[in-house]
Amino acid sequence: MSIKIMGTGSALPVRTVTNDEIAGMVDTSDQWVRERTGIGSRHVSTGETAASLAAQACSLALKDAGRTAQEVELILAATCTPEDVVPCTACQIQDRIGAENAVAFDLNAACAGFLFALHTAWAYVEAGIAANALVTGSEILSKIVDWEDRGTCVLFGDGAGAVYVEKCGEGGILGFVQHSDGSRGSVLSCVSRPTETPFFRGQESGRYLKMDGREIFSFAVRQIPLTIGEALDKGGLSVQDVDLFILHQANRRIIEGIAKRLSVDISRFPMNLDRVGNTSSASIPLLLDELNREGRLKKGMRLVLSGFGGGLTCGACVLEW
Ligand code: COA
Repeated sequence: MSIKIMGTGSALPVRTVTNDEIAGMVDTSDQWVRERTGIGSRHVSTGETAASLAAQACSLALKDAGRTAQEVELILAATCTPEDVVPCTACQIQDRIGAENAVAFDLNAACAGFLFALHTAWAYVEAGIAANALVTGSEILSKIVDWEDRGTCVLFGDGAGAVYVEKCGEGGILGFVQHSDGSRGSVLSCVSRPTETPFFRGQESGRYLKMDGREIFSFAVRQIPLTIGEALDKGGLSVQDVDLFILHQANRRIIEGIAKRLSVDISRFPMNLDRVGNTSSASIPLLLDELNREGRLKKGMRLVLSGFGGGLTCGACVLEW
């Protein structure tokens, strides 16, 4: 038994911010950002939250699948930027869309979060706990980015993507791989809550995202081709069998490096990061939804989804559309 993606949806904040606009805030330029990352603009929240965007994306995914909110049994929300600690984003989504029969909870695996949530949905269905799920990745990274740090503020954007999945007898997800390496957590970190209590004197560790860009870059280019290879082995396929590689949209040069290592033409790696930047856990379902709505995903196509991020975490999934 497996799960099949029956519908997709996405949502972006209304406000867009161009590289030129950021160049008015920190010492950078449109040319530098485009050349080093491929990013031209991103969407930034002026009030939208991880839950409000995810609820929109989930409603659209249900509509695309022809299902109602009452039919949903499980809601998994991947996010590292929830608006509130409690209630979790997934419960807020449940309330907003009226999915009163669902079990809802969050999962944080940074930019690999959507894939980890999708794998969890698969496990729930395999175990017979649920027959369907809404899986969403949603982020408001603009609230954890240091807008005075040119090394990070140009990279990220806000947004949400969602898929509705159901159990299926054949096709659907064919293979899955997940990896975590907690020993390298400092490569990408954000310690944003106060740690002082009347009983414990915490250390000031910084409220914003901190990143070793070069380390993440080489981790992704080295590790992702191996992870994709493992997932393909599990699905009994090779890179030649894959129609499209839908990768986490962090940086055009990272995606080009991965394509080169896999010896696959870059045309099989669709990208939207020029318009949305790195939206962390939202990036894969956002791109998937764009491709679905453009009619570029045909029945029977083989897709690889793969992502990486803070933790460190990474994963890959092979599926038949
Ligand atoms: N505008 C202009 N100059 C910038 C800049 C910006 N926005 N950001 C950094 N620079 C400068 C640096 O200060 C450095 O200057 P120096 O040589 O005087 O010290 C110079 O550009 C080169 O910096 P470097 O870090 O070597 O650039 P790079 O080619 O490695 O590109 C990243 C930097 C961040 C774009 C790249 O490392 C990257 O994309 N890494 C992956 C990040 C990522 O994807 N994170 C999320 C993972 S989920």
